[in-house]
Amino acid sequence: MFTPITLDTSSGLLLNMRLLVESDLADVLLLERSVHSHPWRQSSFEDCLDGRQRCWLAECNGVLAGYVVVTYGGGDAELLNIAVAPKYQRKGIGSCLLQYAVSYVKDHADMMFLEVRVSNRKAIELYAREGFFEVGQRKNYYPTNNGHEDALLMACQL
Ligand SMILES: CC(C)(COP(=O)(O)OP(=O)(O)OC[C@H]1O[C@@H](n2cnc3c(N)ncnc32)[C@H](O)[C@@H]1OP(=O)(O)O)[C@@H](O)C(=O)NCCC(=O)NCCS
Repeated sequence: MFTPITLDTSSGLLLNMRLLVESDLADVLLLERSVHSHPWRQSSFEDCLDGRQRCWLAECNGVLAGYVVVTYGGGDAELLNIAVAPKYQRKGIGSCLLQYAVSYVKDHADMMFLEVRVSNRKAIELYAREGFFEVGQRKNYYPTNNGHEDALLMACQL
């Protein structure tokens, strides 16, 4: 059983953190489609409902501001998704979500990995600030509107 908790961002926003439930799916998909060029399908979020992966929501005054999705196994953890609604970006919520996910997987893994589009400067800055470093690249990993782009593979010692 997960008890909702409150986090304080660097900009003084109070975030209520809780796990995704089925009735959140519509709001989460709206946010997902507002920030990603190639958003996840509903089924990817549904995989979080049975505990195979964990999706935490951050709410600000009862409004969905962002979410983070992680999984772990065999000593490694993976950051699968992180997003903050455009009007809440650059207020410290992404950092809070990432730190929260790291603190959760720390008990279950030694390293955390993630993939990010090479063009995604905002996310790469966030990850580097939170202690992730580049460990490789995957050629043509992500689809774009007119082809493919490489992924950076990043890792963090937990
Ligand atoms: C990446 C994302 C989650 C960051 O969330 P956020 O709440 O805006 O991030 P924060 O306010 O916590 O910023 C933390 C740090 O990230 C970096 N960062 C965030 N936005 C940035 C921007 N627009 N330009 C440059 N650096 C940025 C900075 O280092 C920032 O620290 P600073 O504000 O002290 O300079 C958000 O931009 C987002 O949802 N993007 C779309 C989805 C996405 O790309 N997800 C990652 C997929 S791999």
